Amino acid sequence: MNDGAQVGASVTADSPPVARREPIIEIENVTKVYQMGEVEVRALRGVTLTVMAGEYVAIVGASGSGKSTLMNVIGLLDSPTSGTYRIRGTEVSQLGKNRLADLRNREIGFIFQRFNLLARTPARQQVELPLFYAGVSSGESRKRALEALERVGLRDRAHHRPDELSGGQQQRVAIARALVNHPHLLLADEPTGALDSKTGAEVLELFEELHQQGLTLVVVTHDLNVANRAERIITISDGEIVEDRPVQQGEQPAGVLTASVAAASAVRVGSEAGQP
Ligand SMILES: Nc1ncnc2c1ncn2[C@@H]1O[C@H](COP(=O)(O)OP(=O)(O)OP(=O)(O)O)[C@@H](O)[C@H]1O
Ligand SMILES: [Mg+2]
Repeated sequence: MNDGAQVGASVTADSPPVARREPIIEIENVTKVYQMGEVEVRALRGVTLTVMAGEYVAIVGASGSGKSTLMNVIGLLDSPTSGTYRIRGTEVSQLGKNRLADLRNREIGFIFQRFNLLARTPARQQVELPLFYAGVSSGESRKRALEALERVGLRDRAHHRPDELSGGQQQRVAIARALVNHPHLLLADEPTGALDSKTGAEVLELFEELHQQGLTLVVVTHDLNVANRAERIITISDGEIVEDRPVQQGEQPAGVLTASVAAASAVRVGSEAGQP
C-alpha cells in the first residue's frame, strides 16, 4: 500500500478526500437470510470485515457462497438481516431510503459482469446518467462525462452505442459511468467474466491505475489470476469468511503477468487521468 499521508485527492472532487488508513468499510457480524417460502437461505452467516481507504481487495469463493450478496450489502443495494455496517463512519441501518440512495450515488461506483449499459444509448449519455440523478446541470454533465471517458481512453467513442463497441470498450464505458461521480469506493462483481483474457487484462490495468490514484477497490472474481492483482484476498465459503490474506509480491504466475503487462502497454489510460 502507498504511504499513509497520501489521500485520494485526484479522484475526489465532490466529497472530501478520504485519508488512507481510515476504514471505509466496517462490517460487523452481518447476516443475510432470504426467506423462500418455507425455506430459509442463509446467504451470509456472520461476516466481519474492515477495508481501509485505498485498499485493493479481491473476494473469491465458489458459486453460491455469498459473494454477490456481500457486494450488494457493501454497495447499499441490499440491507443485512442483522449486524452493522458503517461506510466512512456512517452507520447505514439508521438511514432512510433517500439518504441511502444519496450516499450510494456519492460514495460508490459499480461495475458488473454484463456491463449493464442501456441499449441504443451513446456512451456519453450512459456516463451522464449518475450525474442526472445527482441533479448536475446538463452542460456540466456533458463535460464530466467526456472527462470520465477520457480517463478510460474512450473519448473518441463518446457517440458510439454499445452495439458499436467491443466488449472491453463497453466495460470501460461502464467503468467511466462508475467513476463519473468521483466515488471513494469502486465495487466490481466479476468485471472480467464476460471478457477474453487480453481485454480482461486491459480492465485490470485500468483498476491498477485507479488504485494508484487512491481509489478503494473491491473486486469479486472466481479467477485467481484476477484476484492476485489485488493486495488482499478474502475467501468466502457458505456465507462465511474462511480466509483473509495479503497477496505476496510476484504471486502472479509468470505467464499471466507477461500477458497483462503486454496488454497494459497497449491501453491508453494516461497518467493525466484524474488530474483536475
Ligand atoms: N434474491 C435472492 N433470493 C433468495 N436467495 C438468494 C437471493 N440471492 C441469492 N440467493 C442465494 O444466496 C446464496 C448466495 O448467493 P450469491 O449470489 O451471493 O452467490 P455468489 O457467491 O455471488 O455466486 P456466483 O459466483 O454464482 O455469482 C445462494 O445460495 C443463492 O441461491
Ligand atoms: Mg455472484
